[in-house]
Order: sequence, then structure tokens, then C-alpha cells
Amino acid sequence: MSDPLLHPGSPRGLYVRTFGCQMNEYDSLRVQRLLANLGYVTVNDIGQADVIFLNTCSVRGKAEQKVHSFLGTLRRLKDTKPHLKIIAGGCVAQQLGAKLLDRFDHLDMVIGTRAVNSIGRMLQQVQESGRRLACLPDEESDGPRLDGRQILPHPSITAPVTIMQGCNNYCTYCIVPYVRGPERSRPADEILEEIRLLDESGVREVLLLGQNVNSYGRGLDENITFVDLLRRIGTETGIARIRFTTSHPKDLTDELIRCFAEVDSLCKHLHLPVQSGSDLVLARMNRGCTAAGYMEKISRLRRICPEIALTSDIIVGFPGETEHDFQKTMELLEQVRFDNLFSFRYSDRPNTRSASFPDKVDPEVASRRLLELQSFQAEITLAKNLAEIGSTRLVLVEGPSRTSNGQMTGRTTQNRIVNFQAPLSSVGQIVGVKITLAYSHSLGGDIIPA
Ligand code: 5AD
Ligand code: SF4
Repeated sequence: MSDPLLHPGSPRGLYVRTFGCQMNEYDSLRVQRLLANLGYVTVNDIGQADVIFLNTCSVRGKAEQKVHSFLGTLRRLKDTKPHLKIIAGGCVAQQLGAKLLDRFDHLDMVIGTRAVNSIGRMLQQVQESGRRLACLPDEESDGPRLDGRQILPHPSITAPVTIMQGCNNYCTYCIVPYVRGPERSRPADEILEEIRLLDESGVREVLLLGQNVNSYGRGLDENITFVDLLRRIGTETGIARIRFTTSHPKDLTDELIRCFAEVDSLCKHLHLPVQSGSDLVLARMNRGCTAAGYMEKISRLRRICPEIALTSDIIVGFPGETEHDFQKTMELLEQVRFDNLFSFRYSDRPNTRSASFPDKVDPEVASRRLLELQSFQAEITLAKNLAEIGSTRLVLVEGPSRTSNGQMTGRTTQNRIVNFQAPLSSVGQIVGVKITLAYSHSLGGDIIPA
């Protein structure tokens, strides 16, 4: 078997598979960029790969199982292609470290969430020494910061931009503080530079990423808040649209709420995880927010920005959740009427406080509650989509639609997907679309001639 390292002129294939959140998507882009510097070309066909990078997620039990089964399927590929190097990064890698190498003997390298910057150097070491390696530094490797220039050029119309990493909130069910470490923010100038470069390269919309973006700025030398950062992006860059995720309700200030009315490029959508409608459950989750406090923030948001779309996360079956607690969650859904919802059945995660809580909910009861909640929300989501029919929405055209033949796809400022007939030249433009069709996950419409 020929080793591509011995033929440096030939292109080497990198196959990337990403599980989990947008933070992982962003890190996968960084990996592609860093390995492109070493001559790797990203391939869509895993059979063409010389290196496979698996970016893993451990936020819920189901996500982690998917990672383990995918890793298992790679054994046969490695048997047929011995020079293939398989790397695991992301949260499962951070959590299990060298144990992952013990469990999968065809895995060559494990790289922690704070070691992404060293991936090239590590890969070369593995290739040259033939040894298997785990790299899990407590501090960011190769300097404490992310480097915006590593991300570019980004080929698409929308791009993620990490503004902070880690979390200090310690919600009792959540593994994130253990696998992503303590909260740390990127300096504002670096973020602004990255967004300007993305803008110049054709990106129209940025998604600002962090586990808890509202606390952006804490611990930085400069005196800056998330609101200051949003306003600076709005005035100092030409980017057409700004989104952000995720925010914590306890840190949602009036100043931030006002931005939805005052920062023109800020999209009219907020993802604000509530997790439960029961104050008893919220207290045991350590959320630092009551259901009434959450509702109050929703009212203020809607007062300031009536057209805002709201989405949220819910966990059902948290330890000790009674039928009454669950009904409180259903009542909250009825009161808020979210535009969309991400809901999950609780799962124990290693190291978290709730893993040792008593009164675990019977999995069948939790599954029944999840189904009930999801079918109720599906009705609300569809009703909200149907109410869009007849309106005219500004849509940022992202590219050809995957599902509808010959159509383009884009999103409204409220983050609704819209499919419609339009020329390829419309990609990257913000166009008016008259909404004529509504489904559970998308809308259809007719472009309005400029
Ligand atoms: N079990 C179930 N859902 C969880 N989430 C986080 N941790 C768990 C867990 N242990 C959900 C929360 C969070 C989303 C990203 O994942 O709803 O907001
Ligand atoms: Fe996890 Fe809570 Fe931090 Fe979100 S705010 S990442 S749920 S600990």
C-alpha cells in the first residue's frame, strides 16, 4: 500500500464527519482549514480519505451512542487501507481521552476540544512515529486564542463565528462545562476582523456562537459586553445579517432585548432555552430562572419586537419530574407558543450532578411525555407556518434547495426556511418572497421581481 506521505505532490483526502452542535461545525471548519495548509483536500466520499476526522458530541446519551457506532464501522475501512489515519475530536474525545484509543484499536489519534490548533503537528507526529496519540491540554494549545484567519475563505452564504467558548453555569444535567471547560471570550477586534473578512469573501450572514453568549466579555482585558459587541458588528462591518446562539434566560438583559429593535442587521429570532415549565424542576436543574421570570422576558421581547420568532429547548423526564411538573411545561408551551422547539428525553451524563439524583423517571413515562409534547408543538409550529401564507418576507437566498427540484432555498429573518423558483444568480441576495405554501418544517412561495 503506498503511503501518500511518501508522495508529497499527490493530493491527500480529508473526510470530516461532524456530530452535535454548531460549535462542532465551526471546529470542523477550523480543522479543514488547518489541514488544507498541509495539502489536504476535503472529500465527500469516505473511500477517498487518507485522514478521517470525526468531531464528536456527548451532550446527550443518544449523541454519544451514534459516535461509538460510527467509529465501529470504520474498522473495516482501516483494514483495507492501513495508511488511513482516523482522528476523534470534540466532546466525547475530550471526555474519554486515551480510553477511546483503548476501546477502538483502529483509532489513531484523540484530540481534545482545546487542542484543535495543534491538529496538524499532532497528525504529522502520528504519521512519522506510527504511534497512537491523545492530546488533551487544559489550556488552549498553540496560544490561548482562536485565530480568525484560520477560518477563511468560507465558501457559503452563512458562516458560524465563535465568540466565546466553555460555560460556567453548571446546569445540573449538563456535561458542557466538563468537556468545553470554563467560559472564555475572544477579543472583540479579532471577532470583528473575522466578520469583515467573511463579508469580503461573500458571506452575508454570521451566526455568533457560544454556550452562553449573553455573558460574552467577562474575563477579557477590555470592558465590553455582548450588547456592545452586537452593536459594533452592526455598525463596523457590512455583514447583512447577524444571528446568535445560545442565550441563557437569566442573563437576557433589557439592553439585549432592545437590540432586536435597534440593530438593523440583527435577525428577528431568538433561541432561548427554557428546559422546563416547572419551578421545582428548574431549581433542581440550577437554571437560576423561574417559569414566570421566563414569561416576563418573553413579554418584554414581544413588546419591543412584535415580529420576533422564539425557539427553545426542553428536557422531559428530568429526575423527580412528576406528571404535575410535566403539565407545567405543557402550559408554558401553550402560553408562549414557540415558533419551533427542540425537545429531548433526559439522559444521565458522566460527572453531572443530576446523574446521582434520586427518583429517576421511568424511561417509558419519559418517552410518552416527549411524544405528547412533540405532537403538541408540531401543531403550534404548523399553525404558525400556515399563518405566514399571504405575507411577503425578505429571504436570504442560500443556494439550490436539496429537496425541491430546480428551486432555491433561503431563510426569513425569523429563521423559517423558504423554497421558491429563482435563478442561481440570486444566491447571496436578499429577495422578497410572497408566501403561498406552508409545511411543518418549511414554507414555499413566489419571488417578487425587484
Ligand atoms: N439530557 C437531555 N437533554 C440534555 N440537554 C443537555 N444535557 C442534556 C441531558 N443530560 C439538552 C438541553 C440543551 C440542549 C443542547 O441539549 O435542552 O439546551
Ligand atoms: Fe450546559 Fe447550562 Fe452551560 Fe447551557 S448554560 S452549556 S445547559 S451548563
